[in-house]
Amino acid sequence: SAAPVLAIDGPGGAGKGTISRLIAERLGWHLLDSGSLYRLTALAALRKGVALDDEPSLAGIAAQLDVVFRVDQGHAVIELEGEVVTNDIRTEQIGDCASRVAALGEVRSALLQRQRDFCQPPGLVADGRDMGTVVFKDAPLKIFLTASAEERARRRHIQLREAGLDASLPSLLKEIQARDARDTQRSVAPLVPADDAIELDTTNLSIPEVVEQLTRLLVQKG
Ligand code: C5P
Repeated sequence: SAAPVLAIDGPGGAGKGTISRLIAERLGWHLLDSGSLYRLTALAALRKGVALDDEPSLAGIAAQLDVVFRVDQGHAVIELEGEVVTNDIRTEQIGDCASRVAALGEVRSALLQRQRDFCQPPGLVADGRDMGTVVFKDAPLKIFLTASAEERARRRHIQLREAGLDASLPSLLKEIQARDARDTQRSVAPLVPADDAIELDTTNLSIPEVVEQLTRLLVQKG
């Protein structure tokens, strides 16, 4: 492929988003938040009144997603059909709908090339569930980030509160467990570490500690 890829996979709430962004900034590499594509597909489907099990229609929506990723005063902004949806796609409802549409093979195929197009010089940090197993199988460094479900619920709780969104900790834990189950048990591209992935449990690590460890691993890989 055109440029080196750092593939960062793992369950929701393990810190992939934050870690991926910080490493991409540090390296000056591009960033792919692949989950946002599934969230955008889900949001577009809800707005168009398309059922979340209508695979051909959902694949059509995924193939034709009219999305713009841009940075405004240092903040990532996502537009869907010309409308800013940066916060709208972060709700638990959209996360849940995203994991339903993400279980459909035709939707995943429809988003494959769009994801690979992010691989541009000087490099790409790719954040998702199947970056190392499917989308960027040849990535020279693959990381599988995990943390306990309780810790991930706690982190998501803080994140949502900071975004001004409300959610109870017990209901977040239940949703995380349900989404883990759906992501790991689906037949297409289930969430599993690639054979050559390095697993890193971040339950007891701070964000700077994780960034430090991953940077060290990248340097080792040359
Ligand atoms: O990472 P995020 O929570 O934004 O992803 C939302 C959902 O999209 C996940 O629960 C998962 O089902 C799906 N997803 C996926 N493959 C990816 C990224 C996300 O199936 N590469």
